[in-house]
Amino acid sequence: MFNKLTFWKNQNNTSSTLREKIENIKKLPVPEHVAIIMDGNGRWAKKRSLPRIAGHHEGMKVVRKISKLSNRLGIKTLTLYAFSTENWKRPKTEVDYLMKLPEEFLGTFLPELIEENVQVKMIGYKEQLPNHTLRAIEKAIDKTKDNDGLVLNFALNYGSRAEIIDATKRVLNDCKKGILNEEELNEEVFSSYLMTSNLQDPDLLIRTSGEIRLSNFMLWQLAYSEFWFTDVLWPDFRDQHLLEAIEAYQNRQRRFGGI
Ligand code: IPE
Ligand code: IPE
Ligand code: MG
Repeated sequence: MFNKLTFWKNQNNTSSTLREKIENIKKLPVPEHVAIIMDGNGRWAKKRSLPRIAGHHEGMKVVRKISKLSNRLGIKTLTLYAFSTENWKRPKTEVDYLMKLPEEFLGTFLPELIEENVQVKMIGYKEQLPNHTLRAIEKAIDKTKDNDGLVLNFALNYGSRAEIIDATKRVLNDCKKGILNEEELNEEVFSSYLMTSNLQDPDLLIRTSGEIRLSNFMLWQLAYSEFWFTDVLWPDFRDQHLLEAIEAYQNRQRRFGGI
């Protein structure tokens, strides 16, 4: 009985501490666009002698929790790196499983996302995605298009260098056709040719699992973002970690080259 009571009390304390933390964080400006490189699913599974896909499945549950908290915090855009253009190098069974996750995730959580006023978006190359994956994503995008809460932006089959090259080709093409004048080309115009054309640049980038690299993620868009790295593996990432990252962000001084 005593143990049960202590357990209940601890649970309650944790959540009230978290609630307090959330309220405190909301008193200061929160990053408007948070981007996360969700890494470490494979290592999480390996530590438990489970197949790598078990880590991906666990990671999917974290996506739900972190999206909910982001919405609650008033973050405007949450971009999640879910699959890179380089991830096709993985064994087919793993790739196939990863390509099934959007269906599974959205099949379960789409009603919740709709209810919570979340708007689903995607950046990345749609052409190479299996039909079933694309269908699930496009359905979610369509069903949430009129929502105006958190933009939950999945980077799926996304690669930043390819994105920049494609943008450059389209810029050149538009110059050739006379739609764009070379003199008019500036950073803002170039940005409008990227997949992120209707999104602002990330204010905060988080990468889990201890890797300190970008792995071809938003190279142009992250030019002035604040970076926050943690050793926590993505399936172990909890609300408290996101709050910790935001607190760190709120203590940074962004200078953008000024003083
Ligand atoms: C991140 O976890 C998910 C994807 C890249 C799809 P990983 O699968 O890269 O996990 P690790 O880095 O091997 O632990
Ligand atoms: C980056 O993680 C891609 C995603 C999280 C989707 P990786 O695990 O693929 O990156 P590297 O290979 O360690 O750089
Ligand atoms: Mg990895």
